[in-house]
Amino acid sequence: MQRISDIGELRQQVQRWRMAGERTVFVPTMGNLHRGHLRLVEKARDHGQRVVVSVFVNPMQFNDKDDFDAYPDTLAQDSEQLTGAGVDILFIPSVADIYPDGYQQNSQVVVPGLSDILCGEHRPGHFIGVTTVVAKLFNIVLPDAALFGEKDFQQLMVIRRMVDELCFPIEIVGVATERESDGLAMSSRNGYLSAAERQQAPLLYRELEQAKSRLLLGSERFEVVEAEAMEVLQEGGFRPEYFTVRSRKDLSKAEGNVQDLVILAAAWLGKARLIDNICLKSG
Ligand code: PAJ
Repeated sequence: MQRISDIGELRQQVQRWRMAGERTVFVPTMGNLHRGHLRLVEKARDHGQRVVVSVFVNPMQFNDKDDFDAYPDTLAQDSEQLTGAGVDILFIPSVADIYPDGYQQNSQVVVPGLSDILCGEHRPGHFIGVTTVVAKLFNIVLPDAALFGEKDFQQLMVIRRMVDELCFPIEIVGVATERESDGLAMSSRNGYLSAAERQQAPLLYRELEQAKSRLLLGSERFEVVEAEAMEVLQEGGFRPEYFTVRSRKDLSKAEGNVQDLVILAAAWLGKARLIDNICLKSG
């Protein structure tokens, strides 16, 4: 595996692959890799011959400076894991490479509407940071396909819309959420949980599963199920931000066929902000 920080060098390599008729598949990350990230890398192989992974902790998407400062830097282990996973290039640009004049001065990519609800409402500016950096990374790497986790369901949807509306010639692939054996979605932020909180954490996914079963029965009102889940989470030690049933197409308020719905939740547990979701498609 090559480790490349220089944008020009990365471009040259990908260009060589393209000339040789090979497809480049891209997995953007912020590092501190776990099995969820590695699943994306594994899936990337199904979509092309060459895999590029970026590790870049993007200051523009953190609406809280302390959160950015505390974000774990585990580059040595990450690099080792990616070598083991058969990645071709690990791209590790510096903040100055990506934002030479600071991110406040950088042009912005905005997906209106979809970026302002749910996580966007609770983390103002977050998705502008995500779409701006992903657009930049896409233009640097020029991949044929890129993979994103369904764990960050809204992020995946915002990126799909950006790619569609700005005509990026890139195939976007969503990958199912990788979970711990007790159901907790794998996340870099799980490391912020104390031992006691780690025991409580699976309640978030249990509530999503519970709400799904209730809604599939078809007789219960969304608002009742949502409100009760918020209450159970609160009683379980969480500080929930939202627990909501939405359309899987555009995250608008839920209506119509339950099979087309998704339940999304975000909740604080101690110092960790956990998010998760479940689709109502049965099976
Ligand atoms: P990060 O949180 O490092 O996640 C990188 C990718 O891994 C994202 O597509 C995310 O959805 C996926 N992922 C995380 N946990 C997962 C899990 N348990 N199962 C499956 N996939 C999982 O998301 C970001 O970084 C950033 O916002 C980024 C897109 C890199 C832009 O800075």
